[in-house]
Amino acid sequence: MKRVVVLISGRGSNLMALHQRLCMLAQAETGVAEIVAVISNKPEAAGLHWAQAQGIEARWLDHRDFQSREAYDEALAHVVSDFHPDLVVLAGFMRVLTKVFVQRFAGRLINIHPSLLPAFPGLQTHQRALEAGVCLHGATVHFVNEQLDGGPIIAQAFVPVLQCDEAQSLADRVLHAEHRLLPQVVVDFCHGLVALDPLDRLQRSPEATHLLF
Ligand code: GAR
Repeated sequence: MKRVVVLISGRGSNLMALHQRLCMLAQAETGVAEIVAVISNKPEAAGLHWAQAQGIEARWLDHRDFQSREAYDEALAHVVSDFHPDLVVLAGFMRVLTKVFVQRFAGRLINIHPSLLPAFPGLQTHQRALEAGVCLHGATVHFVNEQLDGGPIIAQAFVPVLQCDEAQSLADRVLHAEHRLLPQVVVDFCHGLVALDPLDRLQRSPEATHLLF
């Protein structure tokens, strides 16, 4: 069983979807991974309280207690390392991570982002997709590098933009797609179907999921 640490900042719906999928696999005796810890930069994150209630180790490390990004990332890397993760998942962790953290977990650090990267990195992705008039929107899971929402793309889920969409309706459908995409990528990673090579290029086996509709 691979050891997964999940970092969150808020409600944690992707965390819940991942936990549910991993538990279902374990119950079917095809388990690949377990969430060994959930860590948040915000003590009040709803997902943290949910994790605690499930009996998952839940910790917080408040970024407001640190003088610099690097000092925070160094401390965060220590906490994460204590759980000996095979994979670190950023599931709504709303901070840009510096070299200190990214290099420490290179090749085992992935992020889910609510757009079809490289389109719309950063915030307000659904509103920006509507304003740009795109017909297709969605979510991306990628390995993390030091660029904001950068790093090799592992898989994407596609969501059509409808004439009647507002940012919230689009966000709801993208989130639904995220809940399928993230667990699938984690399972593929744990089966060794996706990886980063030493030159930081994506290696993806033909059996790995890379598109979801
Ligand atoms: C998700 O939509 C995730 O893609 C996004 O935050 C939301 C977290 O929701 N992440 C980013 O924007 C990172 N750039 P959740 O807490 O319910 O999983």
